[in-house]
Order: sequence, then structure tokens, then C-alpha cells
Amino acid sequence: MIKVNKSGAKYSAIVAISEKLRKQKAEGKDILFLNRGINAVTNINLKEIIATIDFNSPDIQVYPPNKGRLELREAINKTFFHNSANTDNIFISNGGISALDLIFKTLDTKKVWLPSFYWGAYKNILKINDIAYDFYESLEFIENNIDQFKDSAIIFCDPNNPLGNKTDDKKLLALVEKLQKAGVVAVWDSPYRTLFHEWGDDDFYKKLIKFNNVIIAESFSKSVGLSGQRIGFIHCINKGFNEELNIKLLFATNGINAFSQVLVEQLLTTEKGKQVVSDFKTKTTTDIKKNIQYLIDNKLLASEFYQETIPVGIFVIANKTYDELLKHGIGSVPLNYFTNLPDEIANKYTRICVSVPYVEFVKFFRRLKSLGN
Ligand SMILES: Cc1ncc(COP(=O)(O)O)c(C=O)c1O
Repeated sequence: MIKVNKSGAKYSAIVAISEKLRKQKAEGKDILFLNRGINAVTNINLKEIIATIDFNSPDIQVYPPNKGRLELREAINKTFFHNSANTDNIFISNGGISALDLIFKTLDTKKVWLPSFYWGAYKNILKINDIAYDFYESLEFIENNIDQFKDSAIIFCDPNNPLGNKTDDKKLLALVEKLQKAGVVAVWDSPYRTLFHEWGDDDFYKKLIKFNNVIIAESFSKSVGLSGQRIGFIHCINKGFNEELNIKLLFATNGINAFSQVLVEQLLTTEKGKQVVSDFKTKTTTDIKKNIQYLIDNKLLASEFYQETIPVGIFVIANKTYDELLKHGIGSVPLNYFTNLPDEIANKYTRICVSVPYVEFVKFFRRLKSLGN
């Protein structure tokens, strides 16, 4: 008989929404999929990059090194850390979700604190790893109650999923410094950040890794639109943590897909690669900005969530319900999937992805404005 070791984690409920919307689309309904968590303004043009990769080489055909290809880790060090990291402290992962799972398998912590507006996967990964969790209201709450966080870890997601808001970098770094002094671990999971910066023009991570309480999980899923390639990385400067992580990584993966590693390496190091990344980021962020402005101008943004911070995307909260939006063909996710607020409040709002073509976005929202709801 097969017995099951049940973790209590739940399969993503958002997937059920996607399936329902796809069914409606197949039945002929015109749907704008703002329920998804991907950049859909444009795709990254890989045609010429792929042509330069030799599939008949050992680089692609045999096991990659456990931590990932050295050339890729060096390229990450240059682009993300301005060469201030030690490449030995960079581990290539199967995207951000697997990075987080390995981090929580390796970290010995009393509890993990999640933002009060959170990506649902955090809870499930922690349940699978049998780690207790709780929620923090705001950065001010952490700052004013730092003792409460001792012997714990805190997840930071900035820009946030689901709110799409951005906190000032100086404020974030000042808080991390205080946490370091108080012995609190900061798990930095901010895969949307790099979308808004050209390769190499952001020195935030360089500043962040000066603190020895920080573990970074990064991903190429959002910043360059390669969620299909399943690739990201972990950075930590703690030797003991890295030794154990290296072992867990080996037995969880036996190395990360070599093709995706070579591909990302090309995007980070070659002129053509940098160009297609830049084109992708420019087109994507231009439409994200215009879409957010459209929501603000038409009073569709739930401005109550953006009192202290600014909405940058790729998600924002709309002040319409899931049903109101769907009536006009707009797919979304009710906010109660991302918060512990009472349902009667959370259900008034939805998380929408604003990383879609502006023309499409406006076409659907105009219908909602002109028909009323
Ligand atoms: C906040 C956050 N972190 C991490 C991820 C992980 O993405 P991936 O596993 O594709 O790298 C996601 C994906 O939606 C996310 O929203």
C-alpha cells in the first residue's frame, strides 16, 4: 500500500482560475488574461542568440557543474553585483521557486515572516518544509518591533507581488542593517526588480550583499521573460549555509539544465544578447507604465494600497471585483488569494497583471468604462 506524507500545502488555486478562463476563451469569449504572472507585452527575441549555441558540444550535452557553469556565475557576478561578489557564493537554481525551497530546506530558523500581501507559494513552500510562518504588516512594524523577529527570517519582495509597489531602496537597506545587528535573516525574493533596470545599471544587490544576514533568491523568469527555461540563482555569503546548500542542490537537481545556462550566459555577456534584453525591458516597462497611468486616470487603481509607496508593476490592485472584470472579458485574481484580510474586504479588489500591450489593455477597460458595471 502506498502511504502519503501529506504536507498540508495546497495546489495553486490560481491555476483553477486560469483553466476556467482558458475554457471560456476556447468557447469563443474574448478574454484579456490579466490573471497571469508573466510579462506579455512582447517576448524576448532569441532567434539570433539560439543560432550561436552549439548543441553538439559537451557544454550542452553533459552534466553541468553542481553550482552552475562558472562562466554564468561570473557573468551574474559582473551584472548583478558589479564584480563585488565571490562567484563561489553564487548557485544556479531551477528558477526562483526552487531557490526558495532549497533556501528553506537549508536554513535553520524558528519562524519565517511573510509580507501581509504575499505570493501564495511562500506559505506552501514553508508548509512542505514544516517551518512555522507569520505575517508582518509593514516595514515600520518590523523596525518598531525588531526583538520580536529574533531567531527568525523575513521574506522581502520588492516590487511586491501582488501589490506591485516599490519601497525606497535606502529605506530597505537601512532596515537590513538593523536586522543584521539584531540577528535576523533577510530572504530577498524580488524577481520583478531587475525588469526595471538595464543590465548592470543597478547597484542595489552590491550594497545588499555587504550584510551577512542576507540570502538572495533571483530568477530570470520575470526580468527577461524566460519562465519556460526554469533558471535563477541563490547568493549567500555564509560558508556553513553554502556548504549545506551545495549538498541539497546536488541531490535535488544534479545540476541545472545546461541549455538554459548557456542561453542566459549569452544574454548577459554578448552584445546581441544585451541588445535583445534591453529591447525586451524597454518595450515591457513602457507599456506597464502606460497601463498603470491609464488605471490611475480612470480611477480604477485601488489607491488605498499605495499611500506610502508607488505602484510600478508588474501587478497592481484594481478596485473592481473578479466578476465585474470578467463581465467585460478581463481575467484577474481576487485579492483574497494574497492576503489574510477578511473576505468581505479582499473580495472587493483584484490583482491584475499590467504587463500586457497597452492597446489591448485599453480596449478591454474602455468597454468596462463605457458599459458601466
Ligand atoms: C514573488 C515571486 N517570487 C518568485 C517567483 C518564482 O518564479 P520562478 O520560479 O519562475 O523563478 C514568483 C513567480 O511568480 C514570484 O511571484
